[in-house]
Amino acid sequence: MPSTSPVKVLDKSGQEIVSVGFDRFGFNSEVPIDALRSLYLRSHYVVTSTSDKVDGDSLDPDAEEQQHAKFTKGLSAYQSKSIFYPEDNSISYTTLARFPPVKLLAPSQRKRVLVTGGAGFVGSHLVDRLMLLGHDVTVLDNFFTGSRTTVSHWVGHPNFELVRHDVVEPFMIECDQIYHLACPASPPHYQFNPVKTVKTSFMGTLNMLGLAKRTKARFLISSTSEVYGDPEVHPQPEDYWGHVNPIGDRACYDEGKRVAETLTYGYQRQDGVDVRVARIFNTYGPRMNPYDGRVVSNFIVQALKGEDLTVYGDGTQTRSFQYIHDLIDGLICLMNSDESRPVNIGNGDEFTIGEFAELVREIVEKVQSEAGDRPSRRVQIIYKTLPNDDPQKRRPDTSRAKESLKWQPRWTVRMGLEEMVSILAQSQKVLSLTFYVRIGTVITGCR
Ligand SMILES: NC(=O)c1ccc[n+]([C@@H]2O[C@H](COP(=O)([O-])OP(=O)(O)OC[C@H]3O[C@@H](n4cnc5c(N)ncnc54)[C@H](O)[C@@H]3O)[C@@H](O)[C@H]2O)c1
Repeated sequence: MPSTSPVKVLDKSGQEIVSVGFDRFGFNSEVPIDALRSLYLRSHYVVTSTSDKVDGDSLDPDAEEQQHAKFTKGLSAYQSKSIFYPEDNSISYTTLARFPPVKLLAPSQRKRVLVTGGAGFVGSHLVDRLMLLGHDVTVLDNFFTGSRTTVSHWVGHPNFELVRHDVVEPFMIECDQIYHLACPASPPHYQFNPVKTVKTSFMGTLNMLGLAKRTKARFLISSTSEVYGDPEVHPQPEDYWGHVNPIGDRACYDEGKRVAETLTYGYQRQDGVDVRVARIFNTYGPRMNPYDGRVVSNFIVQALKGEDLTVYGDGTQTRSFQYIHDLIDGLICLMNSDESRPVNIGNGDEFTIGEFAELVREIVEKVQSEAGDRPSRRVQIIYKTLPNDDPQKRRPDTSRAKESLKWQPRWTVRMGLEEMVSILAQSQKVLSLTFYVRIGTVITGCR
């Protein structure tokens, strides 16, 4: 069935991609792509009042309804909306009355899934998929870098629970699967409080493994390509032990994840916990915090705002980028497979950062031209000093994922960027990006 979205994504054979996920290892993770797209903008839809507020609502209801329907592509049935009043800097929230339809599963098929860090970028996409698939999902999050707004469209649904909790403290719940994602992932976030990052990686993982042991739940940890450090082997296979500076600026995250993996395999050997380890490479997609300092969001936001793109270093360092849907497919496949060794999940298409900046600029220009918003000045690419310990090369060897999970990325970097840029450009129209930060992620500090 062709998609109803104006964003058309074609696979390598020219066929339109209309769904994500697979029916594999006894777990069907397939959902229509339009169902996911309908969720991206929901928490970000804000209109700005143009006249004085009267009884909490000042917009012409018909005009507002039309604008909302246009923005949400007519999916107003289950969209939230809010009105921002600049005159007194207040906002009126409209709560949701209806939810997107989810699969009706037999109780024997329905899993009780705990997602720690489920209000973050990756977690919220995983939550969307698991909810649409009909499972019972509990999100555990302290909202350090995540935000309730990323999952607010599920709050109140009978299959969904949102718990504010710090994984550094023990937590008890009955569950069948634990996706342990809680940990800040972008350098400015994890370096904000390095001691807390180490505590989250170590004590958080210890607590969640203890929970998996008690409940006999299957446990998946989102590890990272950072365990390879600045690699001397290229591309990086899972049996490469890494090259990490244990005392550098990035060590709290890199070493934190390494010890989290050590703990995970300790619990497997000692207590027979059923574990899965995903080593995730750079991932991008809608709902990334535009100001979290990661290269994809940096470039897109700068280009959309008409600012020059900042490349750190001379732009010859390489990265590979995978689109969020591929990562979620990979995580679900891994969780439900028999593969308990670490598995790299990433896209092997490698770009220099300089090339990547040019690609983002080109795609933003294309999206802006199509929308009739082409800026008068072409943004430039400027170069600044490279931060310490920034890896020179990064590319996953994904042979293991291909063999054991039959998984490989379906989205090229260009396809993912086109979708992400058009979604960000739409949200930028109704919502200033400064405002996004206020309702999105604010670093509030943590002990
Ligand atoms: N996004 C990527 O490119 C990438 C790459 C490699 C690994 N990962 C891993 O994937 C996971 C998710 O990353 P993301 O990009 O969604 O990051 P994110 O910062 O958007 O999400 C992390 C979530 O964890 C929550 N959190 C942090 N500390 C917590 C604590 N102590 N207790 C409870 N919740 C806590 C945050 O509030 C947030 O919701 C992380 O474990 C990260 O290391 C991500």
